[in-house]
This record gives sequence, structure tokens and C-alpha cells, in this order.
Amino acid sequence: MNKRYFITGTDTGVGKTIATAALARIFPHCGVCKPIQTGYPQDQDLLFVQKQAKLKTAQIYNPLHFTKPLAPQQAALEDKQPPIDTKKLVKNVLDFCAQFEISFIEGAGGLYVPIGEKYFMLDLLKDLKAATILVCRAGLGTINHTLLSIEALRRKRVKIKGLIFNQTTPPDISARENPQIIQKISGLPILGIFPYQKKLNVIKLSNLVRDIPKFCKNESSEIAPAEISLPKRL
Ligand SMILES: Nc1ncnc2c1ncn2[C@@H]1O[C@H](COP(=O)(O)OP(=O)(O)OP(=O)(O)O)[C@@H](O)[C@H]1O
Ligand SMILES: [Mg+2]
Repeated sequence: MNKRYFITGTDTGVGKTIATAALARIFPHCGVCKPIQTGYPQDQDLLFVQKQAKLKTAQIYNPLHFTKPLAPQQAALEDKQPPIDTKKLVKNVLDFCAQFEISFIEGAGGLYVPIGEKYFMLDLLKDLKAATILVCRAGLGTINHTLLSIEALRRKRVKIKGLIFNQTTPPDISARENPQIIQKISGLPILGIFPYQKKLNVIKLSNLVRDIPKFCKNESSEIAPAEISLPKRL
């Protein structure tokens, strides 16, 4: 069975690449795709994932990249490239993913990042028929951003596999309660809570999502929320 998980986020810089690397480490034979990389070649999310998860070159795929760190539609324009052919992009990504039992696809930015005329990241993940893992910040402001993203996904009837909370900055007091609050409101499982790491250690983060294979076996998006025992202080 060929499974695709689209790693999206509530924003840019929330930790999609870190989460993708942590997940890919658990599945050494997975495929990892970044359909659109902007800010290239300085930013190459796939190289980070490949290194951290020790993947072969054949296991990673980036069909489109643009030099400016802009939303894809604008980045293509600035590079004097034709508008992104979204049908071709979907086909290429699906063809790549078809080679692997499990694939992780990392978006760019959040759900309403424009790729083409009235075509957003949300439309791409819908067209890829991928289940979604939503990466969210843990601290102040995340309740609003996360619930808005969940709402947008649910409106499009996209299957949400669960949430990964990532502490990209040293924790504020809201980080302790926010994941539970969001879990309660949304009814979605928390797949992992990544603490802030002064020095990034993806192996440690990967150990925090070790239950993922169990979740992946279960095709339903309505799986029971994971029992998470939150530390008193992150
Ligand atoms: N848990 C963490 N602790 C410390 N720093 C982190 C943590 N998670 C992410 N970061 C840092 O935050 C930055 C953004 O993370 P990352 O690149 O994974 O975000 P992203 O969502 O993939 O961004 P983009 O939208 O550009 O693809 C990186 O510099 C990363 O090293
Ligand atoms: Mg990234």
C-alpha cells in the first residue's frame, strides 16, 4: 500500500523540514519530496532531510526550485519562469511517490501560499490525495493559527493525521498548555511535541515520534487522540 503524508505547517519556519527529517529517520526506505523549493540554492530542505535520515539520492525529489525566497507563484515570476504547471507537478510528485511504500511531501510555507492563479498549497495537497500532518508552533499565538489551518483543511475534506508541535524558540508559559487546548478543541491526535533545542538533534526529535508507524497503519483520521503526558515545564 502506497501512503503519502503531506507535511504542512501553520506558517513558514515552523519546523516542517525538522519534522520531515524526524519522520523519515523512522522509515529508512521512504521517499521524501519537496515539490517546490524557493530561496534555492541557499535553502535546500531536502539535503537536510537526506543527511539527517541517511537517505539515498534516489529517495529524494525536488521537481521545482526558484531562487528568490518568495511564495512559489511570485518566485517563478521573478525568475522569469513560466507559471507553474500544477497538473504536471501533481503527476511528477505522484510518480515519484509511487516508488515507495511511504512518502513524505513537504510543503512550502503554510496552506494559503499561492502556487498559481487561485491555486494554493492547500489545493496541491488535496490534488495529491495525501493525508496531512500539521506542524504548529507550541508558543503564544499557535491556538489561532493552528485552528485556522485545521478549519481550512477540513473544509477541503483533507484527512488530517495529526499535529506535531514544535518549539522553535525558548518556551513561553503558553507552550505548556497550548497543545492540550488545541487537542481538546480539534479532537485531533498529537503525534509529537518537539522541545526547543539549542543545538538541533534530529535523532532525539525522531524518538519523540516513534509511535508514528502505529498511526500510519490506521487509515482513519478520526483515530483516538494520543495519550500525551506533558512535562510540567517544557
Ligand atoms: N525544535 C527546535 N529547536 C530549535 N530550533 C528549531 C527547532 N525547530 C526548528 N528550528 C529552527 O527553526 C528554523 C526553521 O525550521 P524549518 O526549516 O524546519 O522550518 P520550515 O517550516 O521547514 O520552513 P520553510 O517554510 O522555510 O520550509 C530552522 O533554522 C531550524 O533550525
Ligand atoms: Mg522547510
